[in-house]
Amino acid sequence: MQDQKSVKERVPLSDYWEERFTQEGMIWGHEPSPSAVQAFERFKEAGAAAVLVPGAGYGRHTKVFSGSFTTYGIEISPAALELAARWDPDSVFLAGSALEVQLESPVDAVYCYDVLHLFLAAERRSLIAACLAQLRSGGLLYFTCFSDEDPANGQGSMLEEGTYEYKQGKYAHFFSDEDLRTHFGGTDILETGEFTDCLRSSQDGSHSYSLRYILARKR
Ligand SMILES: C[S@@+](CC[C@H](N)C(=O)[O-])C[C@H]1O[C@@H](n2cnc3c(N)ncnc32)[C@H](O)[C@@H]1O
Repeated sequence: MQDQKSVKERVPLSDYWEERFTQEGMIWGHEPSPSAVQAFERFKEAGAAAVLVPGAGYGRHTKVFSGSFTTYGIEISPAALELAARWDPDSVFLAGSALEVQLESPVDAVYCYDVLHLFLAAERRSLIAACLAQLRSGGLLYFTCFSDEDPANGQGSMLEEGTYEYKQGKYAHFFSDEDLRTHFGGTDILETGEFTDCLRSSQDGSHSYSLRYILARKR
């Protein structure tokens, strides 16, 4: 069901985010998602010392971790990286793709907020594989993503099973609980759940999203 014409016309993801961070700055403000606070507690209980945040944006979530853990952010947008260096100077930010290994030594935990759903299937697999490759055995993964219960699910053209161009030039994968668990097959899944997050931005106004999260342990 891949819509080839539409794929060709679509702005590359990295250009889309670079433009947004350049124009809107700290797009969603300073406040972290409550899920980052939940992940922080779970990482602390598990005795984590080093945390990786792939697709870290301007450091809204690295800042939750960097006061207590050695924290690394991987981010592809230079504009976001500039903002991140100012907002969260205690984290180490690496410029590059989260779909590839960027760290030299493994961390104890990975927190990844609303990045996984941005990609088509092959890239989603690459993101999870890269995160696992940078995580020690027994380390924790906490990911959030769009839920299939979000009203945007099923809007616009379907690019792949469960992936819709729900706004012109912008697509996302919408996860059922089963689909999310399948993506993390090969890990020990400790918990999954749903929550609603409210984000404010100049482009989208105030918007509530239905999200899912997964907490898993690398074998
Ligand atoms: C929806 S935003 C979430 C940002 C951040 N997690 C937050 O909540 O503040 C997605 C982020 O992923 C970044 N991104 C997209 N593709 C990426 C890639 N291949 N590698 C690293 N970062 C990427 C974007 O630049 C953007 O910062």
